[in-house]
Amino acid sequence: MRLTVRSGRLGDVRDGVPVFAALEGEQRPERLLPLSVTRDQALRRLVDGSGFRGAANEVVLLPRGSGWILVVGLGKAKELSLERVRQLAGTAAKAARARGVKRLSLPVLREQGLGAPAAVAQALTEGALLGLYRYDKLKKLPPHERSRRIEAITLIAERRGEVADVKRAVEKGQVLAEAVGLARDLINGPSNIVTPTHLANHARAIARQFRLGCRVIPFPQLKRLGFGGIVGVAQGSAHPAQFIVLDYRPPRAKATLALCGKGITFDSGGISIKPSAKMEQMKYDMSGAAAVLGTVKAAAALKLPLRIVGIIAATENLPSGTAQKPGDVLKTLSGKTVEVLNTDAEGRLVLADCLHYAKRYKPDGVIDLATLTGACVVALGSEAIGLMTPDERLAARLNQAGKATYERVWRLPLWAEYGPAMKSDIADLRNVTNTGEAGTITAAKFLQEFTEGLRWAHLDIAGTAWTEKERPYVPKGAVGVGVRLLIELMERWTKAVTE
Ligand code: BES
Ligand code: MN
Ligand code: ZN
Repeated sequence: MRLTVRSGRLGDVRDGVPVFAALEGEQRPERLLPLSVTRDQALRRLVDGSGFRGAANEVVLLPRGSGWILVVGLGKAKELSLERVRQLAGTAAKAARARGVKRLSLPVLREQGLGAPAAVAQALTEGALLGLYRYDKLKKLPPHERSRRIEAITLIAERRGEVADVKRAVEKGQVLAEAVGLARDLINGPSNIVTPTHLANHARAIARQFRLGCRVIPFPQLKRLGFGGIVGVAQGSAHPAQFIVLDYRPPRAKATLALCGKGITFDSGGISIKPSAKMEQMKYDMSGAAAVLGTVKAAAALKLPLRIVGIIAATENLPSGTAQKPGDVLKTLSGKTVEVLNTDAEGRLVLADCLHYAKRYKPDGVIDLATLTGACVVALGSEAIGLMTPDERLAARLNQAGKATYERVWRLPLWAEYGPAMKSDIADLRNVTNTGEAGTITAAKFLQEFTEGLRWAHLDIAGTAWTEKERPYVPKGAVGVGVRLLIELMERWTKAVTE
């Protein structure tokens, strides 16, 4: 698909179907955007006559002249935000595709509450591209669906002087949408295709494309090197585990960030096996790893001036004659021992080794992403990522990045009193509490044991990585959550260290 930018007036025939945005009113849209068209009485009457009110993501296709226009609701003027713009673009692009439209144009809106045209353009690009995403590589689409494809989107900037900025923003939006798309593809991919080896191959491909450092440690070596957490989880599986390090190291990097991703390509629970209902969803237990791959790729493509080290533990969690058993004690890379009382609490075991490994890079910050606990789904549902960190500065930065990207985080406490529940009688730690209380926090307390000397934050994405209901720019299935959040964080981090 082609994305172009030009300045001028929305509605020029050569740009395809124009998308007008409508602010919500009581009876009919209060205002049509861009502003200039409000004075277009014919258009006004056409929209009013359709019964359209301008509610967020309401959409109509109306005939106009010899062609069509799309009108999409933006919601109330005082609730205007970049998130509304992302949703508008996603809704518009999907509606256009469903109606067989091939080319459309989107206005770079200028309204109070939206900020610079570049920010609006990036939001439009992200919303449109992410909204059009589909995972259809494994099925044959019927011909009429296959031919329904948006071929070109034109962004119309109001002023000529904005075009250069808007173009850069569109490129950035494209990079981000592509990185999120990569994460979604890996997550939607079934576990017989997206194996630990498959993830390693993706990391290698990204490394080749951007000349990054890449180290993959396969299962036999992990055993020899003492990665006891990963080995314990991986030993029941026929697909060999892979420990993946992807190192983006720009010249004169301003800081170093390590990103650790949980990459359980299928979580059956192991010997502590899960119920079979919805077990198929557990292919998404590598969403943290997918977000790390997407983020490192985007950081390299955007040439961010930070060193980013992606660290991924990729393995399945399966029962078999060689699988670890409840009561087994393993020795993690850090030397700390863990009594594995429930083999289904495997994410923390593999992450323990990742976090310890991160220390060798002396990073200025470490963030892990993991679909770690069902308790997080219960606590926060699908609207917020669970954030746990002892570091106020990291918390504040992640919170701001979350607001900006709408990949919102919500902090839970890491008070010392939660710690003792993870102590074992016979080993340094146990991997589950015996009460199940505060499951999201106690899992994080376990991880914290492996973060001495690090500025660390933990993101539990169990509730946000997968969606069962379609949203304006997120189809059902993998969300690809984390990529936009982390890139936004890195941009803010860059600003903070260069000022
Ligand atoms: N991958 C799961 C957590 C999960 C559950 C993610 C539902 C997404 C949706 C994790 O490995 C797990 O099984 N956690 C257990 C921990 C428990 C045994 C302490 C859980 O949450 O039940
Ligand atoms: Mn599990
Ligand atoms: Zn898991």
